[in-house]
Amino acid sequence: MKRLAIGIMSGTSMDGIDAALVELDGSFTNTRLRFLAGRSDPFSADLVTKLKQCIHPTTSTAALVCSVHFELALAYADTVRHLLADVDLTSNDIAFVACHGQTIYHINASRDDLVRSSLQLGDGSVMAQVLGIPTVSNFRNADIAHGGTGAPLVPYADFVLFQHDSNTRVLHNIGGISNITILPARGSLDDVIAFDTGPGNMMIDDAMRILYGREYDHDGSVAASGIVRDKLLDHILGHPFFALEPPKSTGREQFGIQYTEELIERFDHLAKEDIIATLTEAAAQSMADALQRYAPAVDELIVSGGGAANIHLVSRLQARMPDLTITTTDDHGIPAIYKEAIAFAVLGNETMQHKPSNVPGATGASRPVVLGQIAYTK
Ligand SMILES: Nc1ncnc2c1ncn2[C@@H]1O[C@H](COP(=O)(O)OP(=O)(O)O)[C@@H](O)[C@H]1O
Ligand SMILES: [Mg+2]
Repeated sequence: MKRLAIGIMSGTSMDGIDAALVELDGSFTNTRLRFLAGRSDPFSADLVTKLKQCIHPTTSTAALVCSVHFELALAYADTVRHLLADVDLTSNDIAFVACHGQTIYHINASRDDLVRSSLQLGDGSVMAQVLGIPTVSNFRNADIAHGGTGAPLVPYADFVLFQHDSNTRVLHNIGGISNITILPARGSLDDVIAFDTGPGNMMIDDAMRILYGREYDHDGSVAASGIVRDKLLDHILGHPFFALEPPKSTGREQFGIQYTEELIERFDHLAKEDIIATLTEAAAQSMADALQRYAPAVDELIVSGGGAANIHLVSRLQARMPDLTITTTDDHGIPAIYKEAIAFAVLGNETMQHKPSNVPGATGASRPVVLGQIAYTK
């Protein structure tokens, strides 16, 4: 039965909230999905400040995390309300909302006295009650409970939406973090390989804020005006994350503001534009290395995420892989900026039908499991 749903994503870039209204039918490989409308709302300056305080070890407090858990839920609900108003629908028209939430911390391996775990803020019960729409949230923890890393989760949706009979496709999302999903031609869910290649826009964004007071390098124009500096490039690519075998995932804990601040201090003799050029080159090169190692026979690379708009970054990737056909998800009916939000609508669709949607081969979980928690409205 066809129904309308809204997927919501707010990623590691902490730029804001992406919400996608889709029409859905069926499940798993019988899923039929049509994108209807999307909306991106930036976070308020106050909320960005609080989110950054929440993730920083010296400024985070339990009281702040508790409060932001609710504040974010209200911000997500506002975006949903605005999206519904944009298209003249009401909450009664929507079967469910699926919300990833904002990752505040993610621990992949037990260390010291910490266990493997993940925390996404933006409470589902608050959203469901405020909106009057059942809301699925907290997608990662069931996978972690079965020994997985709880990430990446989008590969399930990539498989459902993009798997092809004759082409080996790679879905490449360039958000704060860059991740790829390899879909071998005629492959099954068990054949899917997916992992984070490393930073996408995250280090570039942080360096742009520190060096230029800007949020990001629009179209990659600053990077295009600089020169790549080999010592800095080698230093970044020497990060132990790049040598790890997949499955692997990363985040702000490894490539966040502290790491980029240290790099900029260490290489402060370089021109600002050279630093941006080199960070962009490091991102492109680490992406190309991952593709060459794990997807040498790819027919089509399909990019998405805000980084797909960084023309310089994508051209550097193409320069390293001249024979590769690069398209965007827009070419396949899925707007690049809403692809992750749409993916969470696909995951929520499975959860609402009591069906699993992790990819054990990608997360390392011992088995398929139903993801998330459903908050009902009555
Ligand atoms: N025109 C553009 N030129 C360069 N970078 C862009 C452009 N538009 C968006 N971006 C980048 O995309 C990022 C947001 O991407 P997004 O897919 O929302 O990531 P996340 O999922 O981590 O929030 C911005 O922080 C910025 O770095
Ligand atoms: Mg974003």
